[in-house]
Amino acid sequence: MSCLVHSGCTVATLATGGDPYGLIDDAAITAENGLITWVGEAARLPARYADWPRTDLGGALVTPALIDCHTHLVFGGDRAREFAMRLGGASYEEIARAGGGIASTVAATRAASDDELLRSALRRVDDLIADGVAVIEVKSGYGLTIADEMRMLRTARAIEAHRPVRICTTWLAAHALPPEYAGRADAYLDEIAIPGLAEAQSQELVDAVDAFCEGIGFSPAQTRRMFEAARAFGIPVKLHAEQLSDQKGAVLAAEFDALSADHLEYLAEADVPRLAEKGVVAVLLPGAFYALRETRLPPIEALRAHGVAMAVASDCNPGTSPMSSLRLAMNMACTQFRLTPTEALTGTTRHAAAALGLADEYGTVAPGKRADLAVWNADHPDMLSYWIGGNLLKGRIIGGLYHER
Ligand code: NIG
Ligand code: FE
Repeated sequence: MSCLVHSGCTVATLATGGDPYGLIDDAAITAENGLITWVGEAARLPARYADWPRTDLGGALVTPALIDCHTHLVFGGDRAREFAMRLGGASYEEIARAGGGIASTVAATRAASDDELLRSALRRVDDLIADGVAVIEVKSGYGLTIADEMRMLRTARAIEAHRPVRICTTWLAAHALPPEYAGRADAYLDEIAIPGLAEAQSQELVDAVDAFCEGIGFSPAQTRRMFEAARAFGIPVKLHAEQLSDQKGAVLAAEFDALSADHLEYLAEADVPRLAEKGVVAVLLPGAFYALRETRLPPIEALRAHGVAMAVASDCNPGTSPMSSLRLAMNMACTQFRLTPTEALTGTTRHAAAALGLADEYGTVAPGKRADLAVWNADHPDMLSYWIGGNLLKGRIIGGLYHER
């Protein structure tokens, strides 16, 4: 039970209306029992808070804690050798079709002990925490047996016992075909991906269902089967859509009222209104665009014009986005996709919360939201996207309590 006032700061509330960052200078924030109860100019602090213990944040910038709404950060091994192959001219698809790619991470993940999986994941989580992240989505998809997919999600959930972060788990068994099911994708869905979802759901391990809808992944018809299974359990869906080709995955995602459609480099402009109509968040993953040396840009201007909420995430994974900095993803979203710094920060706070179905709890500094905030050594929020690397985080407020970095 804590009743605290944090003052001496500039707050970027990211709330809608007014200035796009929702900036408040000389601000104060009150937190009670882990929730924000008031935010505004310190001079207007209501009298009832006058005697509450107060932390002076020394002129720092406060934002909502950042949210990484798309990661694959539980995995075994690494793919550094494939990086060299790709630099030598091999494409991601060629490597995947030759048995490398996701399949090689599946072998390493199956071979890793529970403890190894957790310890390596925690290193990446620590990197994200150093960037002010307090909510992380983690997908399965490197186990591809029922037991190994569930082990990945159990490992992801275990992170919460070791670090002050909220973890959202996503069932991504329809990520790739394991070698034992080569050429038998529908049998894999019937025997592993769908019954495994039932089992994982019965153990309360699943917050959302995802699939890799792609030529080297699952067809739209197979993705639909996965989505129907999710719908039968009342679990929300999201999709790796239009990353390497236009499969009309985003249209399918919208049909199933998906939380988000992710990647979207090959999304047709004509399909953008589908996302807008259903309030599907477009999750942009510039780390994968960069690491694959992709040249085709997501249709940013059309997404913007139709008012589709754009989130930005790290896609932290050993293949296409070996990166554990969300601020770097924000910088890349600006430099590569021409997002504004305001859009990039909105994309890792308010819109990222929506992409996880957590808009009521996270993503803005407002009464009723979780008092989970990032405190920065920065004069202006543009700095968070502009500056590449460095340690900009001064501290974190988690559950209302301030922790110096
Ligand atoms: O988001 N494209 C599918 N899934 C991941 C890559 C996974 C991998 O290559 O290991 C992605 O890019
Ligand atoms: Fe991904």
